[in-house]
Amino acid sequence: MKTSAFELAVFGGSPLFARPLHVGQPVLLNPQEMLTDFDRVLHSGQLTNNGPRLKDFEAAVCRVTATRHCIATCNATIALQIAARALKLTGEVIMPAFTFIATAHAMEWIGLEPVFADVDAHTHTRFPDSVASCITSGWSAVWPVHLWGHVCRTDELRTLCVSRGLRLLYDSSHAFGCQHNGIPVGSFGDAEVFSFHATKFVHAFEGGAIVTNDDQLAERCRRLRAFGICGLTEISDVGTNGKMHELSAVAGLHSIATMSQRIVANAEHRQTYAGQCHEVPGLSLLSIPDGDVSNGQYLVVEVDETVLGLTRDQLVSILRAEGVFARSYFSPGCHRAEPYRSAVFRHVRVPLPVTESLASSVLQLPTGPSVSTADILTMGRLLKFIHRCSSDIRQMWVASEGRQGFHAADPARPADIGLRDLNVRDSVLKEAG
Ligand SMILES: Cc1ncc(COP(=O)(O)O)c(C=O)c1O
Repeated sequence: MKTSAFELAVFGGSPLFARPLHVGQPVLLNPQEMLTDFDRVLHSGQLTNNGPRLKDFEAAVCRVTATRHCIATCNATIALQIAARALKLTGEVIMPAFTFIATAHAMEWIGLEPVFADVDAHTHTRFPDSVASCITSGWSAVWPVHLWGHVCRTDELRTLCVSRGLRLLYDSSHAFGCQHNGIPVGSFGDAEVFSFHATKFVHAFEGGAIVTNDDQLAERCRRLRAFGICGLTEISDVGTNGKMHELSAVAGLHSIATMSQRIVANAEHRQTYAGQCHEVPGLSLLSIPDGDVSNGQYLVVEVDETVLGLTRDQLVSILRAEGVFARSYFSPGCHRAEPYRSAVFRHVRVPLPVTESLASSVLQLPTGPSVSTADILTMGRLLKFIHRCSSDIRQMWVASEGRQGFHAADPARPADIGLRDLNVRDSVLKEAG
């Protein structure tokens, strides 16, 4: 382990991890079997258009989610749009501001108007109070997000939507394989949408799916996924091309096959992280809400900068330089991204204090099969060291950049923070005399 702040990679030392660790690193547990299946598809004469592997994949998703219908798509963004169009939504759609921008952009792209509600500080998903206080006659749907795989307050949201005549759709992109009180995520809304992007718990390289128990809705989604074609030749709607191809379906099937193994491994990693974070003042690991079973894909840590002695962004920069590619999902909140921030009166009707605070204080650490227990223990030692040296780090930071924020060595820093070639060590030593 390093012995002084000078040895941190962000100030010119050697990175602790020669092999970088990433959040959501896709791992193929049985690559040879997958290649054999790809080979079969390539020789089968059917690469897409409702092929046999797509049907197998959709059946597997229905089994995991305990739903009647799955409509697999090329990604979740298109799936969100197809579900919204199939439900004939118009006007305003309420959603949390603390989510990935795709939740909002998907709606804006098809002419719906995202309006942002706040979340709670303990689970990052619960927002019925915030929703209720900003409902107007223009609402057509509530679109909550099971963020990090934490299940929303589904009973309260259902009651609220039924009483106001609103449709309830979940962005369940993070929550495949998660449960609440023994009920799998998938059937809590009129429809739910999963992402099978390469960084997700189950992946199909790129992919998504709508699940629902509503037979007519499922039928409409199927038509809209394939240009609005009904039967062989009739066109009944303005559809899109949201189809998932056979190779993605094969990848998704392989990923589903190893789910239980990965849930166990992620839970073990979580325990190891919990022990390490516990020993670092200013860091706390976000707990899994009571009653939830998590897929463990996201390890979310809250940074209290007054205790740690460094901001979340400084910590992310330091970790990245060491080869730990921590993420700061989802910063900024959607309401601070274009086009929403330029039309703030249309999109924001209630204060968003929790979103504001979370957007600058949470980070995600790498987990999953590409990370070992030894890696996590090393990260733990690094985090403790960073906390111990925080005062030196702060001084060196200011000397090197003249400001706080992202460090010049961090590829994720905003473009306006320059000074890439700065030799920090020299300038600090020179100043010290
Ligand atoms: C909460 C959330 N919603 C939607 C999406 C969009 O998913 P996709 O990349 O499959 O379109 C993501 C992707 O990261 C996400 O995290």
